[in-house]
Amino acid sequence: MEEAQFTQGMLDFIQRATTPFHAVQAMAEMLKTSGFKRLLEGDAWNLRSDRGYYVIRNDSSLIAFRKCASQGMRMAGTHTDSPCLKIKPDPIIIRKTFFQLGLEVYGSAILDAWFDRDLSIAGRITYLSGDRKIRSALIDFKKPLAVIPRLAVHLNRDTGKSSSVNAQNELPAILFQIFDCDTPDFKKMLTIQLRQEHPDCNVASILQWDLLLYDTQSPALVGYKENFIAGARLDNLISCYTGIKSLINSELQRSCLLVCNNHEEVGSVSSVGASGPFLKSVLERLSEPGEAFHRMIDHSMMISVDNAHGVHPNYIYKYDDNHGPLLNRGPVIKINSNQRYATDSKTAACFRYLCQKAGLPVQTFVVRSDMACGSTIGPLTAAAIGVKTLDIGVPTLAMHSIRELAGRYDAYYLFKILRDYFDLAKEF
Ligand code: CO
Repeated sequence: MEEAQFTQGMLDFIQRATTPFHAVQAMAEMLKTSGFKRLLEGDAWNLRSDRGYYVIRNDSSLIAFRKCASQGMRMAGTHTDSPCLKIKPDPIIIRKTFFQLGLEVYGSAILDAWFDRDLSIAGRITYLSGDRKIRSALIDFKKPLAVIPRLAVHLNRDTGKSSSVNAQNELPAILFQIFDCDTPDFKKMLTIQLRQEHPDCNVASILQWDLLLYDTQSPALVGYKENFIAGARLDNLISCYTGIKSLINSELQRSCLLVCNNHEEVGSVSSVGASGPFLKSVLERLSEPGEAFHRMIDHSMMISVDNAHGVHPNYIYKYDDNHGPLLNRGPVIKINSNQRYATDSKTAACFRYLCQKAGLPVQTFVVRSDMACGSTIGPLTAAAIGVKTLDIGVPTLAMHSIRELAGRYDAYYLFKILRDYFDLAKEF
């Protein structure tokens, strides 16, 4: 697969994957097209060793795997969620003719980046159908229908000087203006959208939702030489896409698995998060009971893939001189002696070897010694199932902004390396 084709596919995926639900749906379609079969957790599994399978939990986390062997699984992990603004359960606010929605902050979003953007709404609706069944379906309005205007500089001389935003007061989004004869009904708007996207849904009444706002600006190649990818949710959809592509494109020889967890941005403690039981319960079903499971774990390895901090040229003092990764200079091994990353010298060596063998560049990130370090699903997965793990990712700028920036070549390098990891390398 050529770089241009891979990168265009990634931009299309990011555009589609506006919520964790849509990310899982898009990944499931890619897997299905490649011959993977869906398994339901509530059914008995009769697995064949010559094909791939995938499992979805709560529409927002996914595990795909191929073969299941006592010699261990080559595993990779990513997350499907990104920081965003979620619509509250009773969101309606009406002030000065404006119909607004109250919003909850999901994860550590950079709030002032959400001002003055053309926003849309997407997510999952759970409803009662005409035949009195509770069902769920995904919707995505795909058009700019909400805005959060910034306060004019004349009314606040600190505008642009400080990034402290009061999330309760300043974030309610404007959907439209109400005129005299209007009787605004948010649920009716959702019902119309639901019927439009799912003509067979037979919706009687909407019961609840998981809806969020997203920026409608498409991801794009930017820069004079088109060396960069700008877009929303690059953390961590780049890794989801790269993980799925490498799994699909590796040969059918080795037991391997990709887990894409929801809720990383809010601490991972949930039934679908990396601190929950999803991965362990799937692995247990792939193994004979008892000792065999522990043998499989001992022979397995996990690469946790989540974006890394690339060096920002305007803030180089924020990085360790020798451990600040550059954009387009290869994936990054993340190391932290306080175990905020799960990497150790053995697992890092394996990854470094894979890069060397493929003739591809690799970099290392260590946070400045006078700063606290972020974390990700690597240490949580390692602690939950005891598998040897390392943390890596492509370098990015503006992490958690509404529009992040990555190098265009790093994901393609990572794709090639993960593909080899899933299949070819026999040295570890
Ligand atoms: Co992330």
